[in-house]
Amino acid sequence: MKYKFADNRNYQDLSSGRVLYNLPGTTAFPVRLASEIYQRCAALLLAGGTDPPYSLYDPCCGGAYLLTCIGFLHGREISRIYASDIDENLVSLAERNLSLLTREGLKKRMEQIEAMYAQYGKESHLEALQSALRLKDMLDRMDGDIDIRCFTADITKARDLAGFVNHVNLVITDLPYGNIVSWSGEVDEKQAVRRLLENILPVLLPCSLVSVVSNKRMKVTYQGYRRIELFTVGKRQITILQPVF
Ligand SMILES: C[S@@+](CC[C@H](N)C(=O)[O-])C[C@H]1O[C@@H](n2cnc3c(N)ncnc32)[C@H](O)[C@@H]1O
Repeated sequence: MKYKFADNRNYQDLSSGRVLYNLPGTTAFPVRLASEIYQRCAALLLAGGTDPPYSLYDPCCGGAYLLTCIGFLHGREISRIYASDIDENLVSLAERNLSLLTREGLKKRMEQIEAMYAQYGKESHLEALQSALRLKDMLDRMDGDIDIRCFTADITKARDLAGFVNHVNLVITDLPYGNIVSWSGEVDEKQAVRRLLENILPVLLPCSLVSVVSNKRMKVTYQGYRRIELFTVGKRQITILQPVF
C-alpha cells in the first residue's frame, strides 16, 4: 500500500508509555497508519459532502492508543470521541489516555513526569517531558477541547448503543486478532464482526464511514454496508465501509 496522506516522519512523541499511558499486555498501533486511515476517511467524508468537525468512535478501543494518536494529529477536525471496550480496566486506561487531549489532563501528566524526573533524574523522563511540551503545542493549535465519552460495552451484544453514542461520522477500530488480544463474549470471530457491524449501524449517519483493521483472512462485510476501500499494510487489512440506508 502506498501512503497517500501520512508523512513518513518521526512519531516518537506519541510512543506508548512515553507520554501516553500504557499497561502490561496492551497493544499499540503504527501511528503513521492510524493517521493514514483517518485522513483517507476524512477525504472521503469531505468528498461526500460532510465537512468537519467529525465525531469518531472506536467500539474496541482498548487503552485508546489509536484514538489518542488520531486526536493529537487531527484533533482540529474532531469535535467528539466515543471509546468503548468490553474490558473495564482498559476503558479506564482509555480515559486516562484520552484525558491527554485536554489541557488539564496533559498538565497533570506533565506534573507526574516532572516528579519522576526530580526523583530519579532519568534521561527518558526528560525526553518524555520534551515530548509532552510538543504535544501541548499541538493542543494549543486546536480550537477547544474534544468532547470525550468512554464506556464499557460488549460490542457483540450492545443493542442499546444509541443510549451512549449518537451521530457518529467515523468509526475506526482495530479488531481483536492475533495472539495478544482475542474476542471476548463471542467466540466465533466472523460472527463477532457481523454483530459489531450490526450493532453500530443505528448510531451511524447516511454518509458515515466505518474503517475496520483486521487480519488478512477476515472478510469484513455485513448486510446494510457497501465496501468503499480495501488495502493491506504488512499483516493488517483495512476495510472501509459505508452504511446503505
Ligand atoms: C487490538 S485491541 C484494540 C487496541 C486499541 N485500538 C488501542 O489502540 O489501544 C482489541 C480490543 O478489543 C477488545 N474486545 C474484545 N472483545 C470485545 C467485545 N466483545 N466488545 C468490545 N471490545 C472487545 C479487547 O478488550 C481489546 O482491547
